[in-house]
Amino acid sequence: MPNNAVKTEPTTDNLILKVRDLSKTFPVKGGVLSRIIGGVKAVDGVSLDIHRDEIFGLVGESGCGKTTLGRMILRLIEPSGGRIFFDGIDITDLDRHRMRVFRKRMQIIFQDPFGSLNPRKTIDSIVGEPLRIAG
Ligand SMILES: Nc1ncnc2c1ncn2[C@@H]1O[C@H](COP(=O)(O)OP(=O)(O)OP(=O)(O)O)[C@@H](O)[C@H]1O
Ligand SMILES: [Mg+2]
Repeated sequence: MPNNAVKTEPTTDNLILKVRDLSKTFPVKGGVLSRIIGGVKAVDGVSLDIHRDEIFGLVGESGCGKTTLGRMILRLIEPSGGRIFFDGIDITDLDRHRMRVFRKRMQIIFQDPFGSLNPRKTIDSIVGEPLRIAG
């Protein structure tokens, strides 16, 4: 690269999220004993990098595994395989307690307000509860 070239590619230390070979197979149960008779491969070996300040769009047909991937990255679903690194730290196996510090730094913004806001709660408790939990 010439000296005066503008560097447009982010550097690797700017990585906020690194996903490697992430996969999820949901068990399929059947029969009277509800035994596991198979599996649905929802996510199959996904790797991606997201840099700080980068907006990353994930597009695909319905049922291709976008939501499952997102929920695994947030550790709301346990991956069947692969690794998740957030800000350089492997969060794949962190327990609930050690995940807490990362919970403050990553979140889902649900598109449907009726699915996000509990009609039985006041706005004060909906907005206030997470703030109180996060100190
Ligand atoms: N809890 C679950 N148990 C079993 N199968 C599941 C579960 N959640 C998702 N799946 C299956 O995993 C696959 C991926 O689903 P997912 O919801 O991640 O897709 P999506 O890309 O988000 O779809 P959409 O665009 O419709 O939101 C689908 O075949 C779905 O039926
Ligand atoms: Mg979805």
